[in-house]
Amino acid sequence: MGPLVVVMKFILLVLLTATLLPWTASLGGQNSPEPSTSAAPGKAIFNGRCGACHDADASKKLPDRTTMLARLAKNKDPESRLATRLKNEQERHQVFLYLQPLIERECLSLENHGKMQL
Ligand code: HEC
Repeated sequence: MGPLVVVMKFILLVLLTATLLPWTASLGGQNSPEPSTSAAPGKAIFNGRCGACHDADASKKLPDRTTMLARLAKNKDPESRLATRLKNEQERHQVFLYLQPLIERECLSLENHGKMQL
């Protein structure tokens, strides 16, 4: 009886590992986009909490006729500039990741604008 139980347990163990291994492997593959580098969460936060006044792409004209992007583009540390509006550090960083390419584009257009005036 003793050895039979051991063999049964061994077979069960092998079967269990064989069924679980591919499952855990596919689980690992599912969370593919790195949360820390994706713009998606920040976009959702921005659209939900800032989009009404700044537009979804942050390009809406403010009362002084600048835009939030233009102001951030001129700032040396735009991420910390956001801290006046976003107290939560994680949300701030996520929003920053979303805004970063937009700010860079704004920087370029500011530079081009300067050149055209020369
Ligand atoms: C109720 C309307 C409203 C909402 C909502 C709003 N803003 Fe603004 N925001 C403004 C106005 C108006 C200005 C320009 C006047 C000022 O500087 O306060 C501004 C200016 C800014 C500036 C430029 C500040 C600077 O340094 O010159 C930033 C950055 C900014 N907003 C970020 C945000 C973010 C991020 C959110 C969402 C968490 C947000 N805003 C939500 C109305 C809004």
